[in-house]
Amino acid sequence: MKLNWVETLVVNNPLRRWHQVHVEARILEDLLAKSFAGGRVLVAGCGRGVEIELAFRRFGAASVDAFDLDPKQVRRARQRLGHRFGVQAGLWVGDATRIPVRAARYDAVLDWGVLHHIADWKAAIREIARVLVVGGQLLFIEVPGHKIRSPHYRLLFDHPLEERFEPADFHRACEERGLEVDGRTRSYFGFFFGVAVRR
Ligand SMILES: C[S@@+](CC[C@H](N)C(=O)[O-])C[C@H]1O[C@@H](n2cnc3c(N)ncnc32)[C@H](O)[C@@H]1O
Repeated sequence: MKLNWVETLVVNNPLRRWHQVHVEARILEDLLAKSFAGGRVLVAGCGRGVEIELAFRRFGAASVDAFDLDPKQVRRARQRLGHRFGVQAGLWVGDATRIPVRAARYDAVLDWGVLHHIADWKAAIREIARVLVVGGQLLFIEVPGHKIRSPHYRLLFDHPLEERFEPADFHRACEERGLEVDGRTRSYFGFFFGVAVRR
């Protein structure tokens, strides 16, 4: 599901970029099972592309592909990053439940607040598991169902409300698809952060 105008403003601004770079990326770094420097990375639901920058600069990716369901978000990412990473980053409009890529292609997949926007989020997990190499890592930051159903979230944002997940549901769905969740998950301001490794 695409963002409504409120969440578009909340997500796409310099303050949020600062927070992603200085807080969220640090938490994920601490949780990594191993470095994926020099590897291939896929950013699912890339928004305006901050994670593409982070994948290159912070995590040392050799190549990054990225997609988002919303053409406007992909346009924002192209405009922001085009000159810097244009030749390296394959960017497309697409759906995480149908990733048009062969199996076992990526060393890491980033889900930076995306799967809770997807009605069939388990299909997205299945696709992510399919495109990861054995030993590859899913880095996730997610919003639990109880937060999505809270009055202020429902007032401000648009999300699918059926069959949302709590951390344990998300971890179970990962395990069912061969993604082993590292025990060192982290909760921060009600969001949950973690890493799952493809068996
Ligand atoms: C909360 S935003 C996060 C964007 C970006 N990852 C960030 O942290 O700035 C969620 C993003 O997921 C995208 N999205 C929603 N459903 C999607 C789907 N099925 N496949 C890919 N992207 C999707 C939205 O368009 C939006 O850009």
